[in-house]
Amino acid sequence: MKVSYILALLPLVVASPAPVRPRPTRARQALGLGGLARKAGLKYFGTAIDNVVLDNTQYTSIAFDRSEFNQVTASNGQKWVHIEPKRGVFNYTLGDEIVDPSKDAGQIRRCHTFLWHNQLPKWLTSGNWTKTTLLNVLENHIKHEADYYWGDCYAWDVVNEAFNDNGTYRSDIWLDTIGPEYIEHAFRFARKYTSPGTKLYYNDYGIERVNSKSLAVQALIKDFQKRKVPIDGVGLQSHFTVSRAPLYTDVRAAQQLFTSLGLETALTELDVRLDLPDDAHKTATQAKIYADSVRACVDEKKCVGVTVWDFWDPVSWVPETFAGEGNACLLDAKFNRKPAYYAVADVLTRGAANGTRRGW
Ligand SMILES: *[C@@H]1O[C@H](CO)[C@@H](O)[C@H](O)[C@H]1NC(C)=O
Ligand SMILES: *[C@@H]1O[C@H](CO)[C@@H](O)[C@H](O)[C@H]1NC(C)=O
Ligand SMILES: *[C@@H]1O[C@H](CO)[C@@H](O)[C@H](O)[C@H]1NC(C)=O
Ligand SMILES: *[C@@H]1O[C@H](CO)[C@@H](O)[C@H](O)[C@H]1NC(C)=O
Repeated sequence: MKVSYILALLPLVVASPAPVRPRPTRARQALGLGGLARKAGLKYFGTAIDNVVLDNTQYTSIAFDRSEFNQVTASNGQKWVHIEPKRGVFNYTLGDEIVDPSKDAGQIRRCHTFLWHNQLPKWLTSGNWTKTTLLNVLENHIKHEADYYWGDCYAWDVVNEAFNDNGTYRSDIWLDTIGPEYIEHAFRFARKYTSPGTKLYYNDYGIERVNSKSLAVQALIKDFQKRKVPIDGVGLQSHFTVSRAPLYTDVRAAQQLFTSLGLETALTELDVRLDLPDDAHKTATQAKIYADSVRACVDEKKCVGVTVWDFWDPVSWVPETFAGEGNACLLDAKFNRKPAYYAVADVLTRGAANGTRRGW
């Protein structure tokens, strides 16, 4: 044990004698992904965490280890349906279950999300709202949640998934009742009620290429900037599949739609699902897609970090959302690191060696 530990620390200095024990196939990383990300000049490498798995101590010992993940996002705990289950009645239990241990662990948080079309409580979706009453409901919700998590969030996803793939506004209770200006109201409320310096993000999927949707987001930002509506960043969710993922160059070009306007970017929900059953070829392709995605952030100076949408296959959202697909995460069911984990670690290590990013 002692000998192999020393060898792991000094692999380049010590010529290798016959090992006293079988060598592990991969030497354990001295630093986790969060630590490597910092060295590469990112603010963080993070993970989403869901409440349903918090009783699994093997899971939580990794999830709340800031060397592995120095940023966390509550997968569900801060969404409207849980936070304001009855009108004007706020319940932060599920949010706190993620936020409190991550504060103790010294991790930062991307908070998610003030406004979405999904996971809304029944009282809200079935209400008979006017534009004025619904705007009051929105302001009151943001005011309370922002105030409760005052100072706890590096960033807030203020508005999530407001566009269709063809670049038109998504029809939902917000658009249909208030009109497209609900988006700027949400950002103004967020600026008014969050702690100073909180980064306000627009977050969406399918904007990891230059396409109708990402161009619509860019147009929204240009309009906001002309009229002094606050916005600081764009989250590229990055839910990819092994058979269909954007290239490194696509993700770079998509980010530049936003960084060219002075905004920061982040990959906020990265995962790479595949058609089950798994095989070595799919696993290798998955590793390459993870690596190329992370590299597209490392190489983009205004990309602040990457968040995976959970790191452990059994709690991923994929199997229950896409029939026949799964194994989208960095760690398998036995908590073994998959090729994708090592590929991401390699990219972050190379990023530190390249030294192309400004230091923090
Ligand atoms: C708040 O939410 C938690 C978690 O869902 C639940 O167990 C608890 O009963 C709720 N509290 C109230 C007062 O409704
Ligand atoms: C919804 O509110 C409007 C205006 O207050 C009212 O005229 C209408 O009857 C209400 N509809 C329902 C289904 O309650
Ligand atoms: C854009 O997409 C939405 C949602 O799929 C659809 O309802 C709408 O008709 C489309 N609009 C155009 C102009 O293609
Ligand atoms: C490092 O440098 C190489 C060669 O210039 C480049 O292709 C790559 O994208 C850079 N970044 C990382 C994270 O490897």
